Order: sequence, then structure tokens, then C-alpha cells
Amino acid sequence: MIFFGLGKPKFSVGLEIGSSSFRVAAVQPTPSGPFLANCGFIKVPRGAVAGGEIVDTEVVSYTLSELWRKVGLKEKRVVVGVGNQKVVIRVVEMPYMEKSELKSALQFQAQDFIPIPIEEVILDYEIIDEYTVESGEKMFQVLLVAAERNMIQKVVEAVEAAGLQPEAIDVSAFAIARAILPRRLPAVTEEPRPIEAVALLNVGAGITSVVIAENNVVKFARVIGLAGDDFTQAIMDSLGITFEEAEDLKIRIGLSPLVGDRFIDIPSELLDRAEVVQDILEREVTRFIGEVKRSFDYFMAQSPLEIKKLIVTGGSAKLKNFLAYLEKALGIEVTYGHPLEQFQISPQLSLEALKEDELSLAICLGLGLRGIE
Ligand SMILES: Nc1ncnc2c1ncn2[C@@H]1O[C@H](COP(=O)(O)OP(=O)(O)O)[C@@H](O)[C@H]1O
Ligand SMILES: [Mg+2]
Repeated sequence: MIFFGLGKPKFSVGLEIGSSSFRVAAVQPTPSGPFLANCGFIKVPRGAVAGGEIVDTEVVSYTLSELWRKVGLKEKRVVVGVGNQKVVIRVVEMPYMEKSELKSALQFQAQDFIPIPIEEVILDYEIIDEYTVESGEKMFQVLLVAAERNMIQKVVEAVEAAGLQPEAIDVSAFAIARAILPRRLPAVTEEPRPIEAVALLNVGAGITSVVIAENNVVKFARVIGLAGDDFTQAIMDSLGITFEEAEDLKIRIGLSPLVGDRFIDIPSELLDRAEVVQDILEREVTRFIGEVKRSFDYFMAQSPLEIKKLIVTGGSAKLKNFLAYLEKALGIEVTYGHPLEQFQISPQLSLEALKEDELSLAICLGLGLRGIE
């Protein structure tokens, strides 16, 4: 006898292995949209994950088991996100050919686009557009993804050692887009060419993801090795204090407002250190924005489109006055992302706790959504 649906997960579970925390989201498809059945996070010891890569497999797998215990999840199958310098995403133009030939053509040409030795990567691709150039030649626009095999292997090992089964590995950039942007349009449409580019920035503890989408299709993704930990580290080094003390000052003082009294929101016991901390943060954030600009310039050198707005997520987006600095330096509209918006939320979950953590949930929610697409 065949039991239809047997082996088919009731939930799709998204797992983000972040640098300071791991986050999980169990998502269920319903006729009225995605339902968030379970969600939670756990802090991970510093150094176990660095630059978006697993450094200490044992600590990571132990922490994952703890997360499952804490959240009370039974489901073992997970969609895991990866985002680091060893995952490369490129948009490439290819001449029109049989789709069956495209795969080997890409395999053959990939080394021209990918800065990692091709024998060390796992390749994947998706046709994101078909169009005709002026000469009448038909073309494919293809999104090429290459991920270093050893790096992926480490993720699989850590996840399996925690008793979990990686059902799919997804790129964090795609998860962010899925969580923040409205449903993607079909890959190939008869619609007129896109007219708007939107940038997404997820600023975590160890890394920042920059994603640029045209008509909600990802056209650019890059990881910047600067994020919240670097802001904390700068305060720690300048003041000769511990990481925890520096983290506390970063959160409670933040950047100075761009207009008005710079000490307006500062608790009185921090007033003597406010100016120096604000100045350190301003220096670091300026450096950070320089990196973001470089990514934007790179994108705009290849696209006729201008980036019209920026949507920011990740825990570090909570840095006081951060959005104002971005807006001023980039000269575009900058807003927070709201990844919970497209979900119905289980009454079992604390809405208040979720809202508090919303900016950091973009990646795990987007990973959960992948499994129910
Ligand atoms: N209120 C705040 N102000 C400034 N930074 C914050 C604040 N809250 C959290 N952060 C920073 O956010 C980062 C953690 O964000 P998170 O999205 O959880 O990162 P990850 O997923 O990489 O672990 C840390 O660097 C932390 O210092
Ligand atoms: Mg994160």
C-alpha cells in the first residue's frame, strides 16, 4: 500500500548558522499564505563561526542540538543557508541553445566567471531571463551559483552531527530576497524590461550580505566581511575594554544623530564616554558604507538601472541612527525590512519576542519559505 504524502515534511524548516546566533523557523504552507509554526534562536560562542563559515564543527553541532531542544522542534529536515566569500553568484549572458546543452556549456565556461578553481566548486544555475538583442539573436540570462565543496561539506557535517538532515542548501542572499521582497515574478515573462532596482542589506554580527534585485529577481549578491562585530571590536580596541563591555556601549550609545543634540538619548552614566564611542562608530560605519558603495558601483557599471531604495535587516541595523547615516551617504531612501509581514503567526509563539528579533529573522524565514515554494 502506498501512503501518499509519507515522507513529505509537514513543515519546511529554515536554519541560519549566523556568526553570533543560530536561528530556526518552521513554516507551513496554508491556502492563505505561509504560517510560522515555530521559531527561535540561540547564542553561539564567539569564534565558532567566522566570516560566515564554520570554524568549530563540534561547537556548532552541539549548539544546534541545544537550539532544537530549546525550541522543541521534532522535524529534523532543514533548509540550511550559506553566505560567505566561498559562495559566488554571477549573472551571465549566454547565447540561446537547447536547455539540455546549457548545463554543459555553463560547466565549460564557468571558470571565466568564478574566482574559485572550478574542480573545487558545486555549480548550480537558473535561467532568469530570455531576450532578443538588436541583431535578432536570442539570449539567455543565467544566474550562476558556485559554492566551494569543502565549505558546503563542513556545513553538512555539522548539521548531521546534530542529528539533522540537510534537505537543501540555499544561499542566504536568496533567502533574504524571499523574505523581504514580494513574491518573485515568473523567471521568464513577456513583461517590459524591469525599471527598478532595489538593494537589500543584511548586517549581522560577522558578515553583511548585499543583494540587488531587479523586479524582485536577484541580479547581484556579495558578502562584505564587515559587520556588527567589527563595530564592537573597534570600541574594544580603542578603549581597552572587553568585548562584552564594548558591545554594551555600542548598543546603548550608538551613532550620534545627524542633527540636533548628540547626547539627547544617552543615559547619564554613559555621558562621559558617549562622544568617543560615537566617533569610533562613525569612523567604522563610514568605512562600512564605503564597502556598500563599492558593491553598488560594481552593479551599476553593468546595469542600466539605478538603485532606487535600500531595505536593511540584520541585528546590526538596530544600531542607533544607522539608517540616517546610510541615507545621507548613499542619497537614496533607506527603510527597515519586515520579514514577518508575509506570515501568519502561531498563537503559541510570543509575538512580542518575534517582533523584537524581526530584523535578525530575515534569513531563517526566507530559508523556511524556500521549502514551501
Ligand atoms: N541595539 C543594537 N544596536 C547595535 N547593534 C546591535 C543591536 N542589537 C544587536 N546588535 C548587533 O547585531 C549583531 C547580531 O545580529 P544577528 O542578526 O543576530 O547576527 P548573526 O545572524 O550574524 O549572528 C551583533 O553584532 C550585535 O551587536
Ligand atoms: Mg543573521
